[in-house]
Amino acid sequence: SHLRHVESMRISPSGAGRIPELKAVILGESLASEENDLVFPSDEFCKQALVSSPEKYLEMYKWSIEDPAGFWSGIASEFYWEKKWGQQVYSENLDVSKGTINIEWFKGGLTNICYNCLDANIKSGNGDKIALYWEGNEPDVDGSLTYKQLLERVCQLANFLKDKGVKKGDTVIIYLPMIMELPITMLACARIGAVHSVVFAGYSAESLHQRVVDCKPKIVITCNAVTRGTKIIDLKNIVDAALLESSQNGISVDLCLTFENKSAMKKEDTKWQKGRDLWWQDVVPTYPTTCDVEWVDAEDPLFLLYTSGSTGKPKGVLHTTGGYMIYTATTFKYAFDYKDSDIYWCTADCGWITGHSYVTYGPLLNGATVVVYEGVPNYPDSGRCWEIVDKYKVTIFYTAPTLVRSLMRDGNEYVTRYSRKSLRVLGSVGEPINPSAWRWFYNVVGDSRCPISDTWWQTETGGFMIAPLPGAWPQKPGSATFPFFGVQPVIVDEKGNEIDGECSGYLCVKSSWPGAFRTLYGDHERYETTYFKAFPGYYFSGDGCSRDKDGYHWLTGRVDDVINVSGHRIGTAEVESALVSHPQCAEAAVVGVEHEVKGQGIYAFVTLVEGVPYSEDLRKSLVLVVRNQIGAFAAPDRIHWAPSLPKTRSGKIMRRILRKIASRQLDELGDISTLADPSVVDQLISLADS
Ligand code: PRX
Repeated sequence: SHLRHVESMRISPSGAGRIPELKAVILGESLASEENDLVFPSDEFCKQALVSSPEKYLEMYKWSIEDPAGFWSGIASEFYWEKKWGQQVYSENLDVSKGTINIEWFKGGLTNICYNCLDANIKSGNGDKIALYWEGNEPDVDGSLTYKQLLERVCQLANFLKDKGVKKGDTVIIYLPMIMELPITMLACARIGAVHSVVFAGYSAESLHQRVVDCKPKIVITCNAVTRGTKIIDLKNIVDAALLESSQNGISVDLCLTFENKSAMKKEDTKWQKGRDLWWQDVVPTYPTTCDVEWVDAEDPLFLLYTSGSTGKPKGVLHTTGGYMIYTATTFKYAFDYKDSDIYWCTADCGWITGHSYVTYGPLLNGATVVVYEGVPNYPDSGRCWEIVDKYKVTIFYTAPTLVRSLMRDGNEYVTRYSRKSLRVLGSVGEPINPSAWRWFYNVVGDSRCPISDTWWQTETGGFMIAPLPGAWPQKPGSATFPFFGVQPVIVDEKGNEIDGECSGYLCVKSSWPGAFRTLYGDHERYETTYFKAFPGYYFSGDGCSRDKDGYHWLTGRVDDVINVSGHRIGTAEVESALVSHPQCAEAAVVGVEHEVKGQGIYAFVTLVEGVPYSEDLRKSLVLVVRNQIGAFAAPDRIHWAPSLPKTRSGKIMRRILRKIASRQLDELGDISTLADPSVVDQLISLADS
């Protein structure tokens, strides 16, 4: 067996960065405890890897931290800029006591991300390369577009949008499933400088309406319906309901472009509002297939994406163009060890940040071939993913732990039935991946030969923050390992002091990186309060994290009132406010509980209006109200009747106690003497299994 010894790799030029400490790593042998097992990339993999050793990583990392301007401008120079950025590559203030929080990268530079995704790749000879493979819900329905064809489709839509008066800076809401028109629409907006706001097509009419009211789009782009598995979802009806409600609240949208998704429902069955609704196929193909690019400043907004926070109101995370472009492209390339010959498939929906950065922008900026899949992973059966992998010869497969766990439960035979020999890199995102799921993914799916890139990041960060570069590091199952270039993660205690060495605490980031979000749309104050006030001088992620003796990072989950269900981020306050909108619900408190497949499940304590009896029907209608107000993915797994909730004397709900009751850790309730009425706890426990 091969032995490698990496001695004290700490690099601390004036404390510039907390560099992973890898004191002594012994390769080859498996160690005692599962979590500490090291998994090594093969020599064969290392030989071809972009970053082939810890030393190489540390050298690049050190450079990125000591000279961010030089590091990132060198990379940015490889992209097309109509005009180069100004004197200063970046400027930042992350300290509220020194004034407004401000992050800028490549300011003054003029570019266009759509141009860099498409035109630039065509110019460099990739025009006939497949940009998108599309796999429909049904296994025999598919399609593809080369880079040239994709550009033509994007230009037609861009011309249509311009013709309808959509201008630079205008907002466009996209409510589409995973069909090629989704990335096409994102790119068309980017081409003309319009700001897209993709709303995940699993959100309810109510959620869509909230977003319409917040960002006031010029146009909404949707499709008639989508089939996912055996379910047909009538998206146009949802849009109709949302727009009706918005117009009753004074925000009317004059144009709704609707793609006819033939695989779902019939055109004639789609409800239509004359004068407002247009069929995509009737109008878009009549426009020219070329369209001039709108050059935008690096700091002009590219998109808004709403995400959940600890209050009921979703936050419009705003990303700008230049830094985001450089960051998504670079992280994609290194975290997946991307090569031109790769076929890449990410199972995320473009309605979430993963689909923005790593279905659309990151891969296309690299000239990659991307698989887009419309359906669900277990339709027609649990082998579908591996069927798709074999069909398109997928080499890089990026997914979420929840999918790994659910397929793991269905049994190995669904996997081993397919060859999967094209696979060479696997990826995981959305929540911590437990070591047993990691091992199954590694051993069964990847035949013990594909490194797993466990990427920790967030809607706010734009791109990967902590992730193993395949081939660079030995991996520890369940650890996201080390920071990406230019990222300085720090772990702080409650008082905001950085802690060193082996420790655990709150995960923050010191100094900005190009892909960072710049504000919350229309609410810079909330941006500062939520992310920069908790620990002054740092960006606070909302996650807990520990660092082991070798410097590996282990994410431990959210420390705020956000829960992570199947990798979807849901604010407990959002679910609570949906529940209390039910006429028979007086009060609700929602906590996350461990869930075998979803990671976390939603557990709701509900106090009913005086005199209303508990019933199964009422339970169902409470779940329904959440589905209708947020979306099916936010439906509570459990409703626990609560005659009253445990509160402090000042009226604050003690969630700590609720979490313990929800997870049945009744001997760990802790001090309940500070409750206004401690007997509430016994009452709740007695109703636990009712
Ligand atoms: O708690 C972390 C978890 O997902 C949160 C971000 O959610 P969202 O903005 O919806 O973005 C999801 C896709 C990037 C984080 O605060 N999270 C994401 N990736 C990981 C993770 N937790 C542990 N390990 C990860 N790889």
